[in-house]
Amino acid sequence: MKKIIETINVKKYFPIKKGIFLKTVGHVKALESVNFSIHENQTIGVVGESGCGKSTLGRVLTKIYNPTEGTINYYDKDGEKYDISNKINKKTNMKYRSDLQMVFQNPFDSLDPRMTIGDIISEPLQIHKVFKTKSEEKDYVKDLLKKVGLYEDYFSRYPHEFSGGQRQRIAIARAIALKPRLIITDEPTSALDISVQSQVINLLKDIQKENNIAYIFISHNLDVVYHVSDRIMVMYLGNVVEEADSKELFESPMHPYTQALMKSVPGWNPRERKLSEISLEGEPPSPIAPPPGCPFHPRCKYKMDICSKEKPTIKNADHKVACHLFK
Ligand SMILES: Nc1ncnc2c1ncn2[C@@H]1O[C@H](COP(=O)(O)OP(=O)(O)OP(=O)(O)O)[C@@H](O)[C@H]1O
Ligand SMILES: [Mg+2]
Repeated sequence: MKKIIETINVKKYFPIKKGIFLKTVGHVKALESVNFSIHENQTIGVVGESGCGKSTLGRVLTKIYNPTEGTINYYDKDGEKYDISNKINKKTNMKYRSDLQMVFQNPFDSLDPRMTIGDIISEPLQIHKVFKTKSEEKDYVKDLLKKVGLYEDYFSRYPHEFSGGQRQRIAIARAIALKPRLIITDEPTSALDISVQSQVINLLKDIQKENNIAYIFISHNLDVVYHVSDRIMVMYLGNVVEEADSKELFESPMHPYTQALMKSVPGWNPRERKLSEISLEGEPPSPIAPPPGCPFHPRCKYKMDICSKEKPTIKNADHKVACHLFK
């Protein structure tokens, strides 16, 4: 399978500014060390507690922010590699923006209320000059509306006329308009009623099957992530602490944090497997002053001397884990 993106030691620090001269007094270390790659047609789930850097990772990949350090490589359809960590030229930018799209958490904020549904979905097509005539473009957009389970005569209506679930379908139609190779979805269903959440997830899965799109699927909901992902990445305080095939991760989680995270889900017991008696107490430490050594050591019941002194690096090729318990 062809690679689409890889990150190498990506960091994102946000400066904290104080006083009338806005002096930088520290940094929020939202991403500390992120290494991963995603291939065509693959779904990678990203999980972790609030504030661990999931959305920041999505925003760095969609180039809303540049990383503070590290490299992001993008591979086009022909396998040509582009370093997109910092400013990129217009041509690469256009290519990247048609290959990668994002579906945000809140479909009430993400659709411009002054634009019709037709205009919202057509906008990326116009920027990329996909169609020569208006009528071809209109037919294509109406087709997209049908694909996401909406009526084609919604074309001339406005976002306020639609429910959350319908708006998320509109956002998905816009995201797939340019036939992207990768879609990043950040909590795509958490603003929706429970009853429509699974419909939107199923739509995303159907679209993937039809179009071979890769997803980076960010979510709090471990159950959803388990069902949609091929691989899962567990983040803690800006670090990827474990990454493995979905089934493998849920059946044999290695990192004490992953084990605790799964245990915190009520009723979660894949195949009756009893997870060790770890619970996740308290809040994660602040990303402004993360603990030395392993970021999880203050909450870890297996903590050893080395854990507060040395930061564990990722080990193993397939089931990756960053923990001193595994040499
Ligand atoms: N633009 C910003 N400026 C300053 N700090 C930020 C900014 N964006 C995020 N942060 C901080 O970076 C850390 C990671 O935030 P992020 O939104 O990526 O977490 P998350 O895992 O998506 O959390 P949630 O599950 O609540 O959505 C948090 O401490 C957050 O306050
Ligand atoms: Mg978030």
